[in-house]
Amino acid sequence: MKALVIGSGGREHAIVEALSRSPQVEKIYCAPGNAGITSMAECVGIGVTDVEALADFAEKEGIDLTVVGPEAALAAGVVNVFNSRGLKIFGPTKEAARIESSKEYAKQVMDRYGVPTAGYRSFDNYEEALEYVKAGKIPTVIKYDGLAAGKGVVVAMSFEEADAALKDMLLDSSFGKGRVVIEDFLEGPEFSFMCLVSGDKVYPLELAQDHKRAYDGDKGPNTGGMGAYSPVPFIGEDIKDRALREIMIPVAKGLVSEGNPFTGILYGGLILTEDGPKVIEFNARFGDPETEVVLPRLKSDIYALFEAALKGEDFDIEWHKDAVLGVVLASKGYPGSYEKGAVIKGLEDVDTSVYHMGTAKKDGEILTSGGRVLMVTGKGATLEEAHAAAMKSLEKIDCPALFHRTDIGKAAIK
Ligand code: AMP
Ligand code: GLY
Repeated sequence: MKALVIGSGGREHAIVEALSRSPQVEKIYCAPGNAGITSMAECVGIGVTDVEALADFAEKEGIDLTVVGPEAALAAGVVNVFNSRGLKIFGPTKEAARIESSKEYAKQVMDRYGVPTAGYRSFDNYEEALEYVKAGKIPTVIKYDGLAAGKGVVVAMSFEEADAALKDMLLDSSFGKGRVVIEDFLEGPEFSFMCLVSGDKVYPLELAQDHKRAYDGDKGPNTGGMGAYSPVPFIGEDIKDRALREIMIPVAKGLVSEGNPFTGILYGGLILTEDGPKVIEFNARFGDPETEVVLPRLKSDIYALFEAALKGEDFDIEWHKDAVLGVVLASKGYPGSYEKGAVIKGLEDVDTSVYHMGTAKKDGEILTSGGRVLMVTGKGATLEEAHAAAMKSLEKIDCPALFHRTDIGKAAIK
């Protein structure tokens, strides 16, 4: 079989790696891919939102299955276009993907199907939003209602911070013209629950935990994710089952009832509150960096899983017992502005899996080319061992332009 993966980050690197382990897959393409992915797939220079060109390529090369990585491709309607041209693709339509691309739609779906989440209101007017914040409690959470690469969320610890976020999003339109959702602040440990969904059938993947803040001790601005690990020892099977029953299944069934059935990975960003698991956000795709710690644990043939999901057939998912932990190396300045083009040395000495998130190759050297640059992982019988393996690899990588958190997995490791 020939597979095409759309995207250029660590998530796509991990999807390509998982596909390369499938005995059925003979050739993998990645559009546009990155410097790390070139070792496992043929990278083709088509952008993720250039959906007609992607479909032309899939048709011309006789691609058997395309897998979508990033939300931008989904929002651009890549699945709709492939479907209309009779090309097989794993991912939700643009309409179903609104569960991620519109925070307000996600909230409406949760309301309609009784899914536990934070109370909220949405606004497009700055003065009205400010009045609502004044009348409510601090901390409060302000979210831009649209795609903002994980950066459109401000957990405001003071009124001034909330006001600044509202000004930024509604008056200065930093992410574009749009609305904001203002939510009650929830407390508890967060975890990422990805499920393979095929209409009303929901198959849970192993849990992971992401670290969203830029700096140690969960300080600093929100990012796309600075590190992750799987499994998550403090979330028991009982909680996972409850999250499946109360959150993931009702949403999948709800989307079917709405006329927007979902096929793909439904990602629940959940928080374990005193009242049980609640939703922080949904994504309509594999999480990044969660995918880099979850897919290496997958024992089943991922190609067969994607195929079965597309056909609506039942299947079991098998897992390895190993734990995986990964640390993101990001460009200094991320998630704000940063420089590109720094040389990364020492990669050839690393013997654990390193997923490229934002790299480029020039004259035989690997250069930084994004905010999040590499995800360095370790594997082991326990999270402690996985952590030690990741640390050992991290020490070998030499690039002064990068920084990383030193406390990934700390909460789970005794
Ligand atoms: P999101 O992009 O919606 O996942 O939000 C990014 C991060 O902001 C989450 O991982 C949480 O740490 C935090 N956050 C978002 N919504 C809330 C909330 N209602 N209560 C507490 N923290 C939140
Ligand atoms: N790591 C969170 C996300 O993929 O949005």
